[in-house]
Order: sequence, then structure tokens, then C-alpha cells
Amino acid sequence: MKVAVVYESRTGNTARAAEMIGATAQELGHEVGVWPTRKANLDFLKDADMVFVGTWTDGIVIGGHRPGDAGRLLDLPGIWGKPTAGFLTYALHAGKVVDGLADVVKLRGGDWIGGNVFKRNKLPAGIAGFVVAAIDAAEARLGATTDA
Ligand SMILES: Cc1cc2nc3c(=O)[nH]c(=O)nc-3n(C[C@H](O)[C@H](O)[C@H](O)COP(=O)(O)O)c2cc1C
Repeated sequence: MKVAVVYESRTGNTARAAEMIGATAQELGHEVGVWPTRKANLDFLKDADMVFVGTWTDGIVIGGHRPGDAGRLLDLPGIWGKPTAGFLTYALHAGKVVDGLADVVKLRGGDWIGGNVFKRNKLPAGIAGFVVAAIDAAEARLGATTDA
């Protein structure tokens, strides 16, 4: 599959998570591109079979959690109908921020397949399992579409 990883990152944690996700997908034999949203290769994105969208957790730690710089994610073209998995980094408490990212992806027309949060000082914990599960889910969706 062609796998695009796009992210927002202010201090580098989500960028690191994105690179780890990309490296794992590549190890699994996929063709991968990893970019910040505003530098995304739009041709690659247009042809991608699945997308990972990532950002950081914004909030007041105990509550109000929402995807950071969601406006830039909403500017993202090219994920209409594509199986899309979300990831976020956080410091202490992420609450239900994954639900917020799901809403953003769905607004852009992405086919949401699930998401995960990753503690910024525990990376890469959990990344490999997340990528394997997301790619499996995307392949299942694409297979179902092809068979229909
Ligand atoms: C304005 C602001 C609000 C934040 N709110 C939270 C929060 O509510 N909960 C949390 O766990 N981390 C919070 N963080 C921490 C970031 O989500 C965390 O450091 C993340 O890994 C940053 O990603 P980046 O390095 O890709 O920018 C906040 C950071 C900023 C700048």
C-alpha cells in the first residue's frame, strides 16, 4: 500500500511519533511518505491508500482536551474516502482527545479507522502495535471496497 503520514508538531514530539509510524510501515513493506501538513506531497497524498494523521494534545491538562492546531489539519486536502488512523502525543492527560481528532478527520471526509495517544516521554511505546493494527484495518476496508 501507499501510506501517507501527515502531522502537526510544535516542539517535535509528534514529528518523532510520525517518523516512527512511517518507519514501521516501511519495515512492513509499504511505500511511505511523512510530512508536516503544510508540506505534504499532494500527489502522493492523492494516490495514498491510507493516511495517518497526527497532532499534539491541547487543553488545560485536567480537561478541555482537543487536537492541537486542528485548523491546519482541516486545511488538509486529499483524504476524502481514504482509511485514516489518528495519533496524538501528550504530556500528562489526554482525556478523550482521540474523539476530537476523529471528528476532524471525518469533517475532511476521511474514513476513520481508529486512533491512539502516545505519551511524549514514552515513545516509541505502543507505536508498532498501533501501526500493524491500523494497516490491517485499512487493508480490510480496502478489500471490502474492492470485493463489493
Ligand atoms: C497550549 C498547550 C496545551 C497543552 N495541553 C495539554 C493537555 O491538556 N494535556 C497534556 O497531556 N498535554 C498537553 N500539552 C502538551 C503537548 O500535548 C505535548 O507536549 C505534545 O507532545 C506536544 O507535541 P509536539 O512536540 O509535537 O508539539 C499542551 C501543550 C501546549 C503547548
